[in-house]
Amino acid sequence: MQNTSRCFRLATCLTLILLLSVGASFVRAHASLDRADPSPNARLGRTPDAFHLWFTEPVEPEFSRVALRDSSGALVESPPAAVSADGMGMTLTTGDLPDGVYTVVWRVVSAADGHPTQGSYPVVIGAAAPAASLASDGADAVTIPIDSAAVRWINLISLALLGGLPAFALWVCRDARTERRLWALSWTGWLAVGAASILLLLLQTAILAGEITPSALANALFSSRFGALWLARIALWVLYGLAVMLLWQPSAGSAGNAPRRRAALVAGVMLAAGIQATQSLFSHAAGVEANAALVIAADWLHLIAMSAWVGGLVGVIAAAPLLHAEPAALGRVVARFSNLARAAVALLIVTGASAALAQVGSFEALTTTAHGAALIVKLILLAPLLLIAAVNLLLNGRRLRAGAAVWAGRLRLLAGVELALALAILVAAGLMTAIPPARVALAERLGAPPPPDSSYFEMEVEGGVMVHLTITPGLVGENTFIVELLDDATGAPITDASLIRLRLEHRTANLGESELRPVHEADGRYVAVGSNLSLPGDWRVRITVQRPDQFDTLVDFAPSIPAAAPPVESPESASQNSSDVEAGDSRDAVGDPVRLVPARSGAPWLITSAGALFRPGETGGWAREPLAAQVRDATIGFGGVIWAAADEGVYRSRDGVWERISDFPARTLVSTHGYLFALGAGGFLRAAEGVLEQDVRQIDAPESDQRAADFVMLGSHSHALLNGTDVYMTGSLGLGWTPLDAPADVRRITTDAAGNLLAVGDATITRWEWSTNTWSLRLALGGGAPIDELVEFKGALYGLSEGQVVRLMADGAREAAFASEGGVSDMAFQYPDTLWALDAAAMTLVSTRDGCTWSAAAVTLAGGG
Ligand code: HEM
Repeated sequence: MQNTSRCFRLATCLTLILLLSVGASFVRAHASLDRADPSPNARLGRTPDAFHLWFTEPVEPEFSRVALRDSSGALVESPPAAVSADGMGMTLTTGDLPDGVYTVVWRVVSAADGHPTQGSYPVVIGAAAPAASLASDGADAVTIPIDSAAVRWINLISLALLGGLPAFALWVCRDARTERRLWALSWTGWLAVGAASILLLLLQTAILAGEITPSALANALFSSRFGALWLARIALWVLYGLAVMLLWQPSAGSAGNAPRRRAALVAGVMLAAGIQATQSLFSHAAGVEANAALVIAADWLHLIAMSAWVGGLVGVIAAAPLLHAEPAALGRVVARFSNLARAAVALLIVTGASAALAQVGSFEALTTTAHGAALIVKLILLAPLLLIAAVNLLLNGRRLRAGAAVWAGRLRLLAGVELALALAILVAAGLMTAIPPARVALAERLGAPPPPDSSYFEMEVEGGVMVHLTITPGLVGENTFIVELLDDATGAPITDASLIRLRLEHRTANLGESELRPVHEADGRYVAVGSNLSLPGDWRVRITVQRPDQFDTLVDFAPSIPAAAPPVESPESASQNSSDVEAGDSRDAVGDPVRLVPARSGAPWLITSAGALFRPGETGGWAREPLAAQVRDATIGFGGVIWAAADEGVYRSRDGVWERISDFPARTLVSTHGYLFALGAGGFLRAAEGVLEQDVRQIDAPESDQRAADFVMLGSHSHALLNGTDVYMTGSLGLGWTPLDAPADVRRITTDAAGNLLAVGDATITRWEWSTNTWSLRLALGGGAPIDELVEFKGALYGLSEGQVVRLMADGAREAAFASEGGVSDMAFQYPDTLWALDAAAMTLVSTRDGCTWSAAAVTLAGGG
């Protein structure tokens, strides 16, 4: 009886801790926007047909939103965004929008692991002001969600008790003296799982709906994948309660009816495993793309093994005092537990390693993310844990079996330390499950489109007030601080603030607080200029807003300020800035324009046969760029940065200043999702496109004796590389490769509108669908000359073949779309709706917006004839 009441006290304490942790706010965010079309910071000629957003995991349709706000913050009226059939994409359509800067605001909840994500990014439509000061990507600030991690930790402990104790009573300790205590502890575990389930429901409802109300709870329960799994968990939990508590009825000092006891315990172990399965089905494991079933199964075995070990340790600690007087019996219990624990540890290590492969995946992810750091802590704690377990196994059990009673006390102590270490490991595990997996965090960091300059822009909503903070240029030194206040419900500017105060504090350097008082400029826009950000690093900017007859609004922002870094001019770039263009270069000297480089808007750039790069001039014609290199390809990246691939290396131009960033001779440039890839012989160079980013990395192609010929981003966020005539896929920006085994040799690759890979061979165009990982025939080419370029435009395929732009019909026939006497030397698609073709011999550039009508413009190269 005394034991039972002690266990109830323990259960009450646990429940209290659980409930206290609900008090904290549950709302958190991390970015999982994969890509968007139009892309963040895009400058569009007109309203796009739709705003498409793709996420890295399927989203909960009921709880995911996309909205558009205009530059005053007002919501643009539109039907709710539609979620695609696979749950990975959302599409928002609007009516025609007037020119201006718009912010796409999104908030989604992953259907796989229930983590919320939110963010925003600007797009510019028409002749509006540049979006630089509005750039934002909603990326995860890698805050540690303490409340969520605590709930998950408690949940893991309760699961350990629920599964581990019946297993312990079934296979390790059948001694009648321990029966009541083990029964009472199992009962505690059951209550703890019930309490943890309630906490998980509250947590997830807050994540899904942003609030905990009866309707939000009902919605979370009945309209989400989480709800379905939670209800299944509760059903299993009730069955467990009935089976274990009713069937297993130990009376003091007796093991009771043995077959009934056995049935109860087997049912307990199996039902606990079922509950653990609902956990694994709603975990990071459920969010992986490849081999999801295997990864989920490994996660489930990891949980079961953890539960057998940790729950069993609790059993040993509970049983030891009751068997104190009989060391030999205790020794036998220890020996049997050691067998169970050995198997559990082996399983933990194997399944843990496989989970690490799936969730972390690289040394870089392990060492540079919070998730990776938590795994390292776990492994560090595992070493002493294994050491103590070995002492218990090799020394303790043997001495006890030999009748040395003194080892009973030592056993309890060592098992206690072992349990404490295991609970610490569970803290790390709980944290890991509460934050984005390392692989995703790394890919997001590498792939996130950096803002076009270092301006800081963030938005918070507090007490019905939407507060935007923009800090420009966002560097150490003098900055402009713009606070924009809007009514969250109506989007109307708040103009009646009697006081706005910014308190700025460096988070690590002890500088004390400084203050700014922005003044009202217009339309809820309050501006101040100051040099308060005097050191690089993490800052806290606390904004207080006072309004007549209203409660004060208090919001914290956390800008990270890089040091001001004036662009470094290399000696080479300096010489190039002085311009190598000789006025009056003859056309013979620069050659004919042979290659098109689509611009973000307006006319494309041109590259000539002699490797000269020309930009569209302001008053018509094309002007030569001051770059003395044999240019093969160029691309216009984020923030107006121009990249050029040349025989002499890869060059970058910012504000008209060219610098060589690598001597890797590159042929082709691809810019995807904030990253630049310069492809050449045997591999490629990868560079972050951010203006301040200097991270440049050379990566070998899987077939390093073959040319890296083309590189495209698929709808799954992975990339495909054409290497020689083979295609490989990488989910880690080139850190690992999977051969895609294309059905035939491939000449070119591109993507269709759904982000599937199109591979052009000599006789066929095949499609690799990223959602099903399968190849299928897209088009049989039916003979004829090879296709050199391929573009999907207005739902049809256009190829460049023998100097003609041809439309490829469904039966493989070709229809001339544009032909010229001299022959078309290049064809390119420019977002959103233009197909360009270049007729070098006639010095003419033609374009179409519908695939039928072409308009032509003469090409005049300044300094080139
Ligand atoms: C070589 C040793 C181990 C490795 C490499 C490893 C690795 C991992 C990884 C990568 C995860 C996935 C985390 C996530 O979903 O974000 C995980 C989860 C977990 N690990 Fe381990 N682990 C190891 C040992 C252990 C040990 C000794 C314990 C307990 C005593 C443990 C308990 C857990 C638990 C409870 C989870 C959460 C599973 C879930 O909620 O789905 N692990 N582990």
